[in-house]
Amino acid sequence: MNIYQMCKEAADYIASIVDCSDAIGLILGSGLGNLAEEIENPTIISYKDIPNFPMTKIAGHAGKLVIGKINGKKVMCMQGRFHFYEGYDMKIVSMPVRVMKLLKCKALIVTNAAGGVNRNFDEGCLMLIDDFINYMGDNPLVGDNVEQFGVRFPDMTKALDENLKNIAVDCAKQLNINLQRGTYMAFRGPNYETPAEIKFASIIGADAVGMSTVPEILVARHCNLPTVGISCITNMAAGITGKELNHKEVEEVAKRVNVQFRSLIKEIISKI
Ligand code: HPA
Repeated sequence: MNIYQMCKEAADYIASIVDCSDAIGLILGSGLGNLAEEIENPTIISYKDIPNFPMTKIAGHAGKLVIGKINGKKVMCMQGRFHFYEGYDMKIVSMPVRVMKLLKCKALIVTNAAGGVNRNFDEGCLMLIDDFINYMGDNPLVGDNVEQFGVRFPDMTKALDENLKNIAVDCAKQLNINLQRGTYMAFRGPNYETPAEIKFASIIGADAVGMSTVPEILVARHCNLPTVGISCITNMAAGITGKELNHKEVEEVAKRVNVQFRSLIKEIISKI
């Protein structure tokens, strides 16, 4: 079975339960999964029931689709995402985005936790992803091009949607949130970077580093699904402050910023 057929089977199953057309897709990173709990009249579909969907393995990621409304807007939320470092093929990591496209979602919001490389950032700040650097050493678009989704050589000049960026900036202003902007550089993980790698990231133009999101953005751009991405800078990246990094502290900071982050995402949803 090719990836198109796999996505189509998954989409057909979901469509047999709930209408997702015109929904806003949400893929939520570490610590923001609880936004799904605010979804009104939710239809909940466990990943394990969706044909061809893998299961999430990391603690703190729930592994279900929640479809319903936030601020009156239809949303289709992935509570728990797939990561390349878990050992999945990139095509599997990004598969939910293609399923969203097949279900006629109209936009995608992706969030993540990231390390701050830009020294003007502080632990706990939020960053609009203006652009990205794919340093994962792989790409979900490798292999036979799936014409049903898009062209062989997709343009990435505007990988993230300008209109959605403007909405995000306006919403942040309205909520008095100091939204930083910058380039997200994706490493393969699962280790946090070395200080030397962070120096390199800084030199080549990264403002933040993380281990996710780029496969999803690549696939979304390929299939023309307008996407906006926001990172929660949970820590300054390795070597910047000298402090050692661990997942627990990343989660704690993500939790601390959760209320503000949630309010921003909800506001963006209401404006799309
Ligand atoms: N590096 C990579 N991924 C991350 C980090 C980091 O410093 N913080 C949260 N996710």
